[in-house]
Amino acid sequence: MVHHGPSEVARAAADRIAALLAEVDGPFSLGLAGGTTPAATYRQLRANSMDWQRVDAWLSDERWVPPDDARSNGRMVAETLTGPVGAGLERPRWSDSLTAGDAAAHYEAHLRSLHHAGPPHLILLGLGADGHTASLFPDTQALGERSRWFVANEVPQLGEVRLTTTYPLLWAARRLMVLVVGVDKAAALKESMEGTTPAGMLAHGEAEVEWHVDRDAASLLD
Ligand code: 6PG
Repeated sequence: MVHHGPSEVARAAADRIAALLAEVDGPFSLGLAGGTTPAATYRQLRANSMDWQRVDAWLSDERWVPPDDARSNGRMVAETLTGPVGAGLERPRWSDSLTAGDAAAHYEAHLRSLHHAGPPHLILLGLGADGHTASLFPDTQALGERSRWFVANEVPQLGEVRLTTTYPLLWAARRLMVLVVGVDKAAALKESMEGTTPAGMLAHGEAEVEWHVDRDAASLLD
């Protein structure tokens, strides 16, 4: 769906999330992404009245940094959304004695327990200018993962380790919602629609994939 600009993307996405929650009785599993575009939707979502007590919020990816680090997605989501609305947020463990792989395995166990009765209702995602989504970056190991749901992923192009949801869980979700704004994402969006980026692979599973983009990001689409 193409919207006028960033604020219209945030408002439309927030309204869709509230509507999807209202369609479901009982617990609602909601995967939340990092990034400035998802953050704008979270700020808008705070203004929508939603039954947050039914929402099981978790992170579709995280940077391998201490929980209070400015780069932490969990810190951003907690400050921007789940804290203000009083919702719980299950975050990956961090400690100096834990490896990223151990933390990812522990978080995967949480996700498998959370989804013992069915797949995630909705996973929110952003799109990087290189076509990455979650922390599935081009030419990284996690792209090839076909059994684990959440792994540590070395990202040489960033010189970082990330923790990320993998395609098996993304593809199993009921719905994925990708939020994209800005002309700097136009090439990545076009290539994703053609299926040639990590985000372009989202359509290869059972999940409904819903794109909310602004006109600048859509400027190279036919
Ligand atoms: C992260 C995100 C990442 C993000 C995209 C888009 O950890 O950074 O999970 O996948 O969603 O890079 O980020 P922007 O909306 O800030 O461009």
